[in-house]
Amino acid sequence: MPDSERVGFVTMGEAGTPAGEVPTLGVGMLGYAFMGKAHTNGYKKLNYIYTPPPARARLVAIAGRNEAAVQAAADRYGYEKAVSDWRALIEDPEIQVFDNGGPNNLHAEPCIAAAQAGKHIICEKPLARTGAEAKTMLDAVKQAGVVHMCAFNYRFVPAIRLASQIIEEGRLGQIYHFRAQYLQEWIMDPNFSLVWRLDASTAGSGALGDLGTHIIDLARYLVGEPKTVSAVTSTFIKERPDGKGGRFQVDVDDAFVSTVEFENGALGTLEATRFAKGRKNHQVIEINGARGSLAFNLERLNELEVYLPEEEDRHDAQGFRQVLVTEASHPYYDVWWPHGHIIGWEHTFVHEIKRFFEAIVTGGSVRPEGADFEDGYRASVVADAIMESSRIRRHVDISYA
Ligand SMILES: NC(=O)c1ccc[n+]([C@@H]2O[C@H](COP(=O)([O-])OP(=O)(O)OC[C@H]3O[C@@H](n4cnc5c(N)ncnc54)[C@H](O)[C@@H]3O)[C@@H](O)[C@H]2O)c1
Repeated sequence: MPDSERVGFVTMGEAGTPAGEVPTLGVGMLGYAFMGKAHTNGYKKLNYIYTPPPARARLVAIAGRNEAAVQAAADRYGYEKAVSDWRALIEDPEIQVFDNGGPNNLHAEPCIAAAQAGKHIICEKPLARTGAEAKTMLDAVKQAGVVHMCAFNYRFVPAIRLASQIIEEGRLGQIYHFRAQYLQEWIMDPNFSLVWRLDASTAGSGALGDLGTHIIDLARYLVGEPKTVSAVTSTFIKERPDGKGGRFQVDVDDAFVSTVEFENGALGTLEATRFAKGRKNHQVIEINGARGSLAFNLERLNELEVYLPEEEDRHDAQGFRQVLVTEASHPYYDVWWPHGHIIGWEHTFVHEIKRFFEAIVTGGSVRPEGADFEDGYRASVVADAIMESSRIRRHVDISYA
C-alpha cells in the first residue's frame, strides 16, 4: 500500500506482534496525583496503542505517604501494590523502571537511590530545585549506567516534533528569533493558600521552575544552547494564608521575563507567569528564520503555523498556513486515529514513555528526541542564571559543568 493510502481509516485494525514476543518492564511510581495519573495513563495506553510497544509496562507498585489514599490510587490505576515509603520501590526486585512524579524536593534522593539500585529512571521536570542538585542526579545515573529521562513532555507534541524536523532540515534557514511565553492564572487570588509550588524549600522556584523550564528546554531543543540571559522576576503577592489559620511569606517568583542570546547568534525572549488573567495553559512559541517562520500554541496542540514561502508557488497566495499535524506520516501520529481525529495533552506522555522504553530495550539513550538528565540539568542551570540575573540586575553567562 502506498504511504499516501496508509491513513487511519484503513490501518486501524492491522494485527500487531503477538504479546509474548514483547519484553515486560516493571514500573514503580512515586506520586499518585497529577503526574502520577498522567504517567500511569501513558503506560496503560502504550501497551495497547503500539503494535507492538517496545516493551509492555507492568504496573508493579505506587508510592505515597497516606496509606489509605495510596491504596485507593493503586486500585484505581491498577498497580499491584501500594506502599507508603518510596524506598520500598527502590528495594523491589520486580521494578526495573522508577518513575518520579513527586514534588521537586523529592526528585534527587529517590532518583539517586534508584540509579544506585540499577533502575532506569524517568523523572519529572524541573529535574531538581537547582542546577547543582540536578548535577548530583546526572552524576548518579551516569555512574550507574542506567537509562534516564527528564519528562519534558512537550518535545513529544507532534507539532513540536514536526517543527524540530523542519528546522533540522534547514527549511527555516538561519534562525534569528525564538519567542516563548508560558502563561497561567491559577494563583491570582490573594487568598489562594499555601501549596508546595509556592514554597522554595519544596519547589526551588515558582513560575520559573514550573513553566519556565519547559520553554527553556524547547528553546534548547529547537534552536540550540543559550549563551547569556538577562531577566527580571517578581513575586506579586508576597504573603498568603498558610491553610492552617496563619500566614506565610511567599518565597518563589510569580513571574519572570528574560532575554536570551543563543550560541548560534539567535535572540530569544522567554516569559512565564501564573498571573495572566484568562490564560489557562497558554504556551506559545514563535521561531523566525531567514527562509520562514513557525508558530505553536499548546492550547491548539494539533496545529503548527508554518510560513515557508519558498515552498509555495504563487506569491499572491503565500502566508502563514495552519497545518493540522494529524497525518499518519506526521511524527507520532501513525498509531493514532484517522487524520483530523485529533489527540490531546495526555498523549504526549504515551510518546515520551515509548521513547523511554525504546532506549531501555535497545540499551541506548532517549536523546536526541527525548530529554535526558543532561538536558534536565542544563535547563536547571539556565533557570538558575535567569534567577541570578534578576538578583544582580546584569546579564549572566551560561556555563555547564
Ligand atoms: N510535565 C508536565 O507537564 C508537568 C505538569 C505538572 C507537574 N509536573 C512536575 O511533576 C512533579 C509532580 O507534580 P504534580 O503536579 O504531579 O504534583 P502533585 O502535588 O499533584 O502530586 C505530588 C505527589 O507526590 C506525593 N508525595 C509528596 N511527598 C511525598 C513523599 N514524601 N513520599 C511519597 N509521595 C509524596 C503526593 O502525595 C502526590 O501524590 C513536579 O516535579 C512538577 O514540576 C510536570
